[in-house]
Amino acid sequence: MASSVMLAVLVSSLIVSSAGNFYQDIAITWGDQRAKIFNGGQLLTLSLDRVSGAGFRSNEQYLFGRIDMQLKLVGGNSAGTVTAYWLSSEGLNRDEVDLEFLGNLSGDPYVLHTNVYTQGKGDREQQFYLWFDPTKNFHTYSIVWNPRNIIYFVDNILIREFRNGQSIGVPFPHNQPMRIYSSLWNADEWATRGGLIKTDWSKAPFTAFYQNFNADACVWSSRGSSCRTMSNTNSAPNKAWQTQELDPLSRRRLRWVQKNYMIYNYCSDWKRFPQGLPPECRH
Ligand SMILES: *[C@@H]1O[C@H](CO)[C@@H](O)[C@H](O)[C@H]1NC(C)=O
Repeated sequence: MASSVMLAVLVSSLIVSSAGNFYQDIAITWGDQRAKIFNGGQLLTLSLDRVSGAGFRSNEQYLFGRIDMQLKLVGGNSAGTVTAYWLSSEGLNRDEVDLEFLGNLSGDPYVLHTNVYTQGKGDREQQFYLWFDPTKNFHTYSIVWNPRNIIYFVDNILIREFRNGQSIGVPFPHNQPMRIYSSLWNADEWATRGGLIKTDWSKAPFTAFYQNFNADACVWSSRGSSCRTMSNTNSAPNKAWQTQELDPLSRRRLRWVQKNYMIYNYCSDWKRFPQGLPPECRH
């Protein structure tokens, strides 16, 4: 009895919850002084000018977790710019969980583009408008990744679920640790109205803001994962995200988002899959 309590305490302490400090948690990967950290590590900005964009990645790799980040996107005329925020493994046949914010003319809506890659294969896009102006304030964008599913949240409202469909032959990211990445770059050949609207360089530099990074996640290292409980079904999970699935309220909200804000779903694109929709779309 006492020893199982001890074990539970020990196991839960191994899941690292890092209430972020950008100085410690991330590395700037490109863009030189276009990526900046302020306020003792609490605020990060990426900027884009004619010469370059910028990007960063997390120092840690994770194998399952809940990752939260608050972003305030490029304001004004952001057409042609893309702010991307994603999880990715390394090497060939990458797993990826993507969020990309496609900029727009002032007053026109950003598009939030999402995709999930398993072993290098994606083609699982869903796109959304947001129900707020993402350039006025910070909003929280979260990814929950556990052995059952990958769930996307915007301000804690569930917008997308990708279930583990390995039992019906759909590959699912489950064994490659991933880092968090983010970049701001110029993509005016395709991003805004399919590339019709170009970046207005007279408005440069374009700037996106980040704060309150939090990874409540299993950190991966050469010694293995910091989590022991994920594969041990006998022990009670100690974090909600480890077993998080859709409850009736989040299902209702998901339907609300899909009905009012979803603008593209690969699962209803019959033209693209004339031989039949992918198996995960069929139920
Ligand atoms: C930009 O605004 C236009 C017009 O409202 C809209 O059709 C488009 O989906 C928006 N987003 C992008 C990324 O083009």
